Amino acid sequence: MFKSVYKNKRVLITGNTGFKGSWLTSWLLELGAKVYGISNNVPTSPSMFEILNLSDKINHFNEDIRNYDKVEKIIRDVKPDFLFHMAAQPLVVTSYLEPLETITSNVIGTTNVLEALRLINHKCSTLIITSDKCYDNVEWVWGYKESDSLGGKDIYSGSKGAAELIFKSYYHSYFKDKAKSNVRIISVRAGNVIGGGDWADYRIVPDCSKAWAKNESVEIRSPDATRPWQHVLEPLSGYLTCAEQLYSNIKLTGESFNFGPKSDYTKSVKDLIKDLSLHWNLKNAPYFIPDSTSEFHEAGLLKLNIDKAHFYLKWQPTLEYDKLIEFTGKWYNNYYNSKIDMLEYTFEQISKYQEIAKSKNLKWTN
Ligand SMILES: NC(=O)c1ccc[n+]([C@@H]2O[C@H](COP(=O)([O-])OP(=O)(O)OC[C@H]3O[C@@H](n4cnc5c(N)ncnc54)[C@H](O)[C@@H]3O)[C@@H](O)[C@H]2O)c1
Repeated sequence: MFKSVYKNKRVLITGNTGFKGSWLTSWLLELGAKVYGISNNVPTSPSMFEILNLSDKINHFNEDIRNYDKVEKIIRDVKPDFLFHMAAQPLVVTSYLEPLETITSNVIGTTNVLEALRLINHKCSTLIITSDKCYDNVEWVWGYKESDSLGGKDIYSGSKGAAELIFKSYYHSYFKDKAKSNVRIISVRAGNVIGGGDWADYRIVPDCSKAWAKNESVEIRSPDATRPWQHVLEPLSGYLTCAEQLYSNIKLTGESFNFGPKSDYTKSVKDLIKDLSLHWNLKNAPYFIPDSTSEFHEAGLLKLNIDKAHFYLKWQPTLEYDKLIEFTGKWYNNYYNSKIDMLEYTFEQISKYQEIAKSKNLKWTN
């Protein structure tokens, strides 16, 4: 997998205690990497990071990404071969309530990582993980391309658009001259992901698992809204592909890539919930719709065009919709209803994902 590039390499993940960070850590451990992490808390309870006991398997630094001196010292000491920067306040609703926290973590945090890399200047293939929400969402039906305008009508989206601008300006100011800079850098944009192990607020699958674990119906506000659902391993396979190719191909530095599902993968919230509920032995209806709706603006359909990743990286999504549901439903079901070792089970899902990708001859499986 990934030409074995991660074996015995030092890989630093910021935001390693979160949902995506825990899956990425598990996958990198499985690939034989030495994993280091920076996070300032464990964001949920329960959390995948704690369930999998990941703190015992990696070198974890409990630090705030906004503390420049600490960030620089960790990067200087670890000298990572690869860096995945994903520490962020990731929720739109929270960003309305805590704008300063969101902007400082997402924008200043990204700047701190870039500044430390600039000064240390060791060979490091770096991915800046932003979001599909970095684009100016003009609510059109076709997918956004990497060259489309950045923007953001809410604070979270604006912070991710700003992180992209900072990434680009650091690239042009300091990293572009390959004779002077050893830092290789790419920004990656993906949409909402689902999968086992997420307990964040204001997200539909965690809401289902929290309610269904108590045998209650889940409250949903927009049953007919459609979303381009994808499993968390999909963008992570894209990030790992990107970093692997960036390591051997300096020409990719400064680029941005979208990762997302195929464009026909949109299902309504209520269909997703019904399909997921088949993995639970529910006594009640899976969901109910409340009378009042949220006061905050949430963007409508936002799709990503993934042609660039397909063309340059030969990357494409792996899972069909039924497997996405099965992977997600079974993970939670095992967590709540069995006594199996969830780290082993997570490795099992990663192996299964790799097998399916291999059967589709995806390039990264070599
Ligand atoms: N989950 C999704 O559907 C999704 C979609 C698009 C983009 N993203 C992006 O992917 C990344 C990871 O998202 P997630 O869903 O795993 O989020 P999460 O909330 O589960 O994890 C966030 C991580 O960032 C860390 N963090 C937050 N603020 C920090 C700070 N000031 N200092 C140090 N660490 C800090 C948290 O401790 C945690 O480890 C984020 O950048 C998010 O914006 C996520």
